[in-house]
Parts: sequence; C-alpha cells; structure tokens
Amino acid sequence: MRRLSAPVVSRRRLTEDVFSFWIEQPWLARHVKPGQFLNVRIGTGSDPLLRRPISVADVDKRKLRLVFRVVGRGTELLSRIRAGETLDVLGPLGKPARIFRNRTVIVCGGGVGAAPLLFLTRSLKERNRVKVFLGARNRAQLILVQEFRRLGVDLELATDDGSLGWHGMVTDLVVRAAEQEQKPIVVACGPRPMLAELVVELDPVPVWGFVEERMGCGGGIWYCCALGRKGGGYVRFCLEGPVVLLNGVEL
Ligand SMILES: Cc1cc2nc3c(=O)[nH]c(=O)nc-3n(C[C@H](O)[C@H](O)[C@H](O)COP(=O)(O)OP(=O)(O)OC[C@H]3O[C@@H](n4cnc5c(N)ncnc54)[C@H](O)[C@@H]3O)c2cc1C
Ligand code: FES
Repeated sequence: MRRLSAPVVSRRRLTEDVFSFWIEQPWLARHVKPGQFLNVRIGTGSDPLLRRPISVADVDKRKLRLVFRVVGRGTELLSRIRAGETLDVLGPLGKPARIFRNRTVIVCGGGVGAAPLLFLTRSLKERNRVKVFLGARNRAQLILVQEFRRLGVDLELATDDGSLGWHGMVTDLVVRAAEQEQKPIVVACGPRPMLAELVVELDPVPVWGFVEERMGCGGGIWYCCALGRKGGGYVRFCLEGPVVLLNGVEL
C-alpha cells in the first residue's frame, strides 16, 4: 500500500448522482486487483478528516476508474473535482476478491454496486462462465451497461419500474438463473437488503458480497466496520474484505 498522487484525466457524470473518474497512476494500475479499493483524501484541510473508501471499478494500462455515488459531504466534494486536478489516494487496500476456476459465476449488481463488479467480471470471465445481472430503480439509474456488454458476457437488466429489462427486482433474475445451474457461485454488490435477500433466497448457494460498510480506522482497531459472524465473533471488512462469503455473516 502506498500514498500516491493521481491526476484525474477524465470525469463524467453517469446519472444525476453517480460520477466516474479515470485517474492516472501507473504503479497502482499495475498492482491493484479486483475487489480492492482506494482511500481517497477529500480536500486539502482536516475537514472531512477521514478518507473515503472507493472501489476500483476498472483498470486500463496506466489508469484506474473510480465510480461513486454522492451520498454526503465527502462524496459531494469529490464530485466537484475537475479533470486536471489531482487526487491523494492510499492503496491498494483490502483483500483481492477470489477468482474462481471452471465455475458458473452469477454476478449481481444493484445500482452503483455495478462499479467494482466490472473489474472483477473482467478477471472472472477468463476462467469461468459468467452471467451478469444489473438492476436499478429505473433506466436512467442503470450504469456501465455498455462496458459490461463489451466484456462479451451474458448480461440481463432489471428495473424496479420496468423502464428497461425485467420489470422487478434484479434478485428475481438471479434466483431464477441460479436454479438452472449446477453448483453456481454468486458474487454481488449493492444495497444491504439486496445482499441479504440473495443469501436467504439462494441458500445454500455461496454468495460472495462486497460489503461497503462505513469504515473508520481502516486498520481493524475499533471494530467500526464489524458485522456479526454467524456462530459468534465479528467480521471486520477492512481486514477480511471487502469481499466476503456472506453466508457466514449476520446481515
Ligand atoms: C471498501 C469500500 C468500498 C466502497 N466503494 C464505493 C464505490 O466504489 N462507489 C461508491 O459510490 N461508494 C463506495 N463506498 C461507499 C463510500 O465510501 C461512502 O458512500 C462514502 O464514504 C460516504 O462519504 P460521504 O462523506 O459522502 O457521506 P457521509 O457524510 O459520511 O454519509 C452520508 C450518508 O451516507 C451514509 N453512508 C456513509 N458511508 C456509507 C457506506 N460505506 N455505505 C453506505 N452508506 C454510507 C451515511 O450513513 C449517511 O446517511 C465504498 C465503501 C467501502 C467501505
Ligand atoms: S474500519 Fe475500523 S475496524 Fe474496520
């Protein structure tokens, strides 16, 4: 892990509140693995004090892509950064996600949760059969659809209001797809209720999930990102994640 400067080489608004940055950082681009994230410093002073964790959504030669939704002050300030300005980032952080072999992997992204799955799907598809399902509230909120299409994987979309793809929850599609497969593995990123539903509905199918919990110390000290482990104890996502087997966690 290093602290590095990374110029923003392009900035695009994907939806009303989701932004995509390509940053140039050759060392990070060489070393980061799918599932890992960067801690991004916001501003130059001490407010906000804590860096904000953002997953790496993709890598292209010397560049890394960050895709984030504005939910509060930190991400709002981040969204105002323009191309040509420089980010102060720490990374790569977190454990790389597992890349399986010769399996059917069902990838499920809800909303901005599609972002880290893009980088992961790029790796998974080299050694596995991969089916991707993306869902959002409506057509305008679906992100990165063209990027997933370009990977050449099976892709199905769902919107809550039926404005594009399946009219309903993306989890409906995933459950149906999993029932048709022998021993599938599911990898998901999205809102906590979506992850919890997948675990319950698909039991005993293994569901690996990105749990993008609030982080504080970032080093396993304060248990600020901890969720209960079934059978006792805690899982600290900053140490064991952010991608963990959700079947063993109290969501
Ligand atoms: C490992 C990891 C990877 C992440 N990757 C991404 C990513 O690729 N793209 C992305 O958009 N977001 C990602 N997040 C979430 C992102 O870090 C938070 O949304 C961000 O830190 C919020 O900062 P803020 O100052 O804007 O909001 P705050 O002012 O801190 O909070 C505003 C509101 O957002 C809620 N909130 C804050 N943090 C989180 C969180 N982690 N999860 C859910 N709700 C939260 C708060 O409860 C509050 O309601 C990731 C989080 C983690 C831990
Ligand atoms: S962020 Fe503090 S224990 Fe994980």
